[in-house]
Amino acid sequence: MNGAGPTVASVMGDYGTARREFTWDSARRWLDGLPGGGLNIAYEAVDRHVAHGHGAHPALRFLGPDGVDQVLTYADLADRTARFAEVLRSLGVGPGDLVCGLAGRVPDLYVALLGTLKARSVFSPLFSAFGPEPLRQRMQIGEARLLVTTPALYRKKVAGLRETLPLLEHVLLIGAGAEDLVGGERLGPGVVPLAELWPGTTGDPVVEPTDPEEPALVHFTSGTTGTPKGAVHVHEAVVAHHATARYVLDLRDDDIFWCTADPGWVTGTSYGVIAPLTCGVTCVVDELEFDARRWYRLLEEERVTVWYTAPTALRMLMKAGSAPHEGRDLSALRHIASVGEPLNPEVVHWGLAELDRPIRDTWWQTETGAIMVANYAATEIRPGSMGRPVPGIDAAVVARDVEGHVLTGVDGGPVVLDEPDALGELALRRPWPSLMRTYLGAPDRYATAFLGDWYLSGDLVRRDADGWFWFVGRGDDVIKSAGHLIGPFEVESALLEHHAVAEAGVIGVPDPVVGEVVKAFVALKPGVEASEELRRELLGWGRTRLGSAVAPREIAFQQDLPKTRSGKIMRRLLKARELGLPEGDLSTLEVSS
Ligand code: WT7
Repeated sequence: MNGAGPTVASVMGDYGTARREFTWDSARRWLDGLPGGGLNIAYEAVDRHVAHGHGAHPALRFLGPDGVDQVLTYADLADRTARFAEVLRSLGVGPGDLVCGLAGRVPDLYVALLGTLKARSVFSPLFSAFGPEPLRQRMQIGEARLLVTTPALYRKKVAGLRETLPLLEHVLLIGAGAEDLVGGERLGPGVVPLAELWPGTTGDPVVEPTDPEEPALVHFTSGTTGTPKGAVHVHEAVVAHHATARYVLDLRDDDIFWCTADPGWVTGTSYGVIAPLTCGVTCVVDELEFDARRWYRLLEEERVTVWYTAPTALRMLMKAGSAPHEGRDLSALRHIASVGEPLNPEVVHWGLAELDRPIRDTWWQTETGAIMVANYAATEIRPGSMGRPVPGIDAAVVARDVEGHVLTGVDGGPVVLDEPDALGELALRRPWPSLMRTYLGAPDRYATAFLGDWYLSGDLVRRDADGWFWFVGRGDDVIKSAGHLIGPFEVESALLEHHAVAEAGVIGVPDPVVGEVVKAFVALKPGVEASEELRRELLGWGRTRLGSAVAPREIAFQQDLPKTRSGKIMRRLLKARELGLPEGDLSTLEVSS
């Protein structure tokens, strides 16, 4: 066994015992439930701590350029989220209506998220580095009625979309510059600074009875083809958020927790806001972007005890060398976990050498809603392995045919591969509390994510003889860049809108820091000359429409894009050629690591 790192006492204790004894019903009893009945994520994350006399404890500490910007205690958060729920009601936005959030990591975004859940409306986070096109698609699919955003983002990305979004009646402005607009200029129809609506609220803390199966969150994710998929999660998901925060993140009441993910994505919502708050801890929120020196300073000065971050960020720290953390006292740091992309063994070894701690990998997806496979605080790690299934989750490796379809067994379920180290697709047995309940408006796509009792993840893995899972690659064409999932189809569609482009094929090419970068192969229309100028124009076109999070970083002109007989561009072949892999057996091209 190539174990590494110390083992420590943990919330979960012994893994084997926890797996045997844990049930989701017992985990449900770790939470309170609403006083009037039902289960509401916001109540579990905020109000119940106030009811337990924990109201004065800091819940969120926001750090801006000049240090601590704002601290919200659990009592503050209870009050503000109640008022936000009242604002929604006063605007006629009610249970089941979709509210989108588009902002940097500013306090009122967190208030809006939790306040929306209190009102039994549904919250969908949008990423602030998306361009207008991804924003429009998501708000359209979600039939968003209200958007919470900043004046700058509204002007730059949303104002021009209003005509295409007739259902979007209200826009509430928060963050920098929003207060200045109170009682003043209106940036568009239904656009009001949130602060203008506060005076009409009372702070009445009552949360209406909420059925645990009511939709709470919609997280958009991308597939190989088609428009983004809106994975719908219900209030019951909080049972899994809480249990995994305890068992995997090892959170205890007095922890100082830092999740570096942006709340515009599922990790930043589930583990940057909801899960840690259900544990009553203090969350640190860094409003600024990555900076190695500042990050180490933050870990030291805030006395962060548990840190949840991502391989791209860790590789950026690695690249920055030892100087930025020399002399920093990181002794408060007890547990480091990582998620979102493969955590290379080199990074784990770097963590042991430079931070003097193991970094523990965790695996999950937008669809699973919570961590499913993990390395635990009290167990040794195997560098490169994503760990073992969390208590309450059955995971298996299932067989695929050469075209990548999961094979159906005699019982109508997948064919489970039990032999050690067999390569197959990772599947998880349903149900569990945070499993998505549908894809918005796309029940057929939802149905194809399952076979019998099993949810099919689309990821290729191996499981060793001791039950540890090893990530091998994605089973589809989706691109992972800096931990963010990018659908090639979305990028291709945007390029096709340019008058010079006849065809586009988009792939991810390996990058030592961000995992993969988006590369587009473009065939030009007859008579259009390829030139450096046009290449730059297309790069700019991509950035303006799609935003920096999604736009291609590289564009290559190629007249004959490889196509199947039915005319579909063969991204696999483009990728094989780009990477110098054999082109013959396309079934082997899925291995990306
Ligand atoms: C995909 C899911 C991570 C949750 C939020 C983002 C990849 C995730 C790992 C890991 C290797 C990983 C998978 C997965 N992924 N964690 N520990 N090792 N790959 O969720 O955007 O839906 O992405 O991220 O390919 O399917 P997401």
